[in-house]
Amino acid sequence: MSRKIAVAGATGNVGREILNILAERKFPADEVVALASRNSIGKKVSYGDKILTVQALEDFDFTGTKIGLFSPGGKVSAIHAPRAAASGCVVIDNTSHFRMEKDIPLVVPEVNPQAIADYKKRGIIANPNCSTIQMVVALKPLHDLAKIKRVVVATYQATSGAGKEAMDELYDSTKKIYQNEFLTPKKFSRRIAFNVIPQIDVFMDDGCTKEEWKMKVETKKILDEKIEIEATCVRVPVFNAHSEALNVEFEKAISVEQAREALENSDGIIVIDRPEEMKFITPIEASAHDPVYVSRIRKDPSIKHGLSMWVVSDNLKKGAALNTVQIAELLVRDYGF
Ligand SMILES: NC(=O)c1ccc[n+]([C@@H]2O[C@H](COP(=O)([O-])OP(=O)(O)OC[C@H]3O[C@@H](n4cnc5c(N)ncnc54)[C@H](OP(=O)(O)O)[C@@H]3O)[C@@H](O)[C@H]2O)c1
Repeated sequence: MSRKIAVAGATGNVGREILNILAERKFPADEVVALASRNSIGKKVSYGDKILTVQALEDFDFTGTKIGLFSPGGKVSAIHAPRAAASGCVVIDNTSHFRMEKDIPLVVPEVNPQAIADYKKRGIIANPNCSTIQMVVALKPLHDLAKIKRVVVATYQATSGAGKEAMDELYDSTKKIYQNEFLTPKKFSRRIAFNVIPQIDVFMDDGCTKEEWKMKVETKKILDEKIEIEATCVRVPVFNAHSEALNVEFEKAISVEQAREALENSDGIIVIDRPEEMKFITPIEASAHDPVYVSRIRKDPSIKHGLSMWVVSDNLKKGAALNTVQIAELLVRDYGF
């Protein structure tokens, strides 16, 4: 059977990036189909040097499609991912809809690739939240070294994490300010230009936002149930790439040098950390690149065994599309897809 791949949400931020990455990494697909809402029927999207014509997800028959790479939003995935799976297409879903379901694996290939095997239960694999992915990639080698007890994280999240219309809102509201006009926010609860917003997703009963809750429960599911996490998630007027300030408390002593060496020797991580030469990473430099970057590794003297660090990654790449494609690559390499 030929290896046919469907990309659902192909006109969106994540879907377009998935198509780019499939082409860039020469994913061994015999056929790729692009799916989106009915409004996009007939639109064109790029896949390497090919142009694909968008079809409606709603009308698409998944029989004969091996892998579905989904990012059409939670409510849409809730309906169409199980429908695709029932036709024998294994879905890797970027939305938050299935992530915390017990029989759905939540996978970051550098951290818990063994969890992929559970795709057999429901035919769906969940891709974690963008902020969670970059954090667990950076935490995994340190957890292996000295067992993490607790993490306190503050995020600085780019507008691309809220979709393509959110990036347009940052652009338009910034432009308007120079014309002495103000745009009424639509995608955000406040003006995003020249501002920061300490609210991503809805508020929950305990005062946390859902984005903060996701970082806590997803990290436990992927890395270790015992790790305690406190998160504050903030939207910032950056187009692309999320940043995170982490304070990590360990069970055992761990030096800055040991942490740096472990991070440098881990797949998917690049350490840029020479403050004396002003060398550290920012979202502009991380954007459009694959790795999780770590800078500013230093001792946290306020606790017994603590380190602080700065972690930046492209949320559309490692935070979404790249992680999805890496899971698909493992399905091909290890599970005979
Ligand atoms: N951006 C990130 O950093 C990131 C990271 C991880 C996960 N995610 C998740 O991935 C999903 C998509 O995010 P995004 O940033 O790519 O959003 P986006 O840029 O707004 O794109 C949304 C995509 O979903 C499609 N879609 C909407 N309604 C649909 C329907 N009824 N049937 C079929 N397709 C439909 C859209 O198609 P049309 O163009 O036809 O409307 C578009 O292709 C979200 O659930 C988001 O939470 C995003």
